[in-house]
Amino acid sequence: MSVLVKLVILVPCSFFLVALIKFLYDYLWTPLRIQHMLNSQGIKGPPYRFIHGNNKEVAKMKREALSKAMGLTHDIFPTVQPHLHSWINRYGKNFVFWNGVRAELVISEPELIKEVVRNRERSFPKRKPTVYLRKLIGNGLVTVEGERWVKQRKLANHVFHGESLRNMTPAVIASVERMLAKWKGQEGKEMDVSKDFRLLTSEVISRTAFGSSYLEGEKIFAMLNKLSIIMSRNVYKTGVPFINKLWKPADLLESEELAKEIKDCVMKTVKKREDKVVNGEADSFGNDFLGLLVNAYRDSDDENRLSLEELVDECKTFYFAGQETVNSLLAWTILLLAIHGDWQEKARSEVLGVFGDQNCNPLILTRKNWVEYKESNPKLVPQSIT
Ligand code: HEM
Repeated sequence: MSVLVKLVILVPCSFFLVALIKFLYDYLWTPLRIQHMLNSQGIKGPPYRFIHGNNKEVAKMKREALSKAMGLTHDIFPTVQPHLHSWINRYGKNFVFWNGVRAELVISEPELIKEVVRNRERSFPKRKPTVYLRKLIGNGLVTVEGERWVKQRKLANHVFHGESLRNMTPAVIASVERMLAKWKGQEGKEMDVSKDFRLLTSEVISRTAFGSSYLEGEKIFAMLNKLSIIMSRNVYKTGVPFINKLWKPADLLESEELAKEIKDCVMKTVKKREDKVVNGEADSFGNDFLGLLVNAYRDSDDENRLSLEELVDECKTFYFAGQETVNSLLAWTILLLAIHGDWQEKARSEVLGVFGDQNCNPLILTRKNWVEYKESNPKLVPQSIT
């Protein structure tokens, strides 16, 4: 056999061998080693299964839990997170399970949770976002760390200052009043309130952070919503090693397309803002969140300047974080109030106690008023609300 032939056989064989060793190291040795280390520290959990981890079990448990009708109960944990519920019962409050090849340590002891949330030593970094989360909120505040987080957080802080929040109340009141007017005359009829809350929260975040109507942000919300659905159905799907580098599943292709379209829409909104200044219709980019972002994007100082990607990701983060969260909170709150008439009474008297027969307004919403009300009604206000 000539040297050339030997080389032609040997080189691919060596590549194959190295790839195989790396594959076994990542998909067998490392998870088994982590599992062994955690087990020896008393942290148990469902055993790691080759490549898939526990993903197939999670998907099966979720399917089964969601296929059962659920009564009006507070005990939603077994339905929403059936795998965690089942494993806490089996392995205790702290356990490890496998999302594919990645170990996920679940803790439910309050003291440990406090330690993680405080994160004093910075020993708990944010988890690496999945490819789908990247498409949804990119490198926005929720996912970045370090210097980049500090720079982006400074801009966001401004939005959450008391003064900025107070300035937002007229827009919030106007949107709520519009929704309540629509609800008038619906007494006794069944309504899908979560649909209206989605509209309400979309409108509020559009008006307060981006100075635009819901209609302008509508396309962005619809696409973010689609992206979040794609993301949630892929949370416990295992990517096939090697193949996922060569072939993109339909969900990934669709989310890439959506992310591109969202970027184009955000850019249009930014351009509109910039054009107003160029055409002399406005003398600044504005002092809402979008205005601050555009200012930072145009900053001449390299250190403070936001890149185009950061600008877009920050907008996506606020559109998404500001809408999905509050929407779910409102829908959940209204469901609980509907179930518990006595809670409704308490909530109503609390609101009337603070606002009387006046509409909510920025002056009433001061901390001083709230503290005074709390002191005069200690039994009505839970201690945790400050
Ligand atoms: C009921 C309402 C809300 C809940 C329960 C909620 C919950 C959370 C949680 C748990 C985090 C921490 C995420 C993490 O670090 O992994 C977070 C971060 C964040 N939320 Fe919210 N959120 C709510 C409303 C909002 C609203 C209305 C906005 C914007 C208008 C918003 C913007 C953000 C941002 C920008 C971050 C990242 C903060 C940072 O890392 O510095 N959230 N939220």
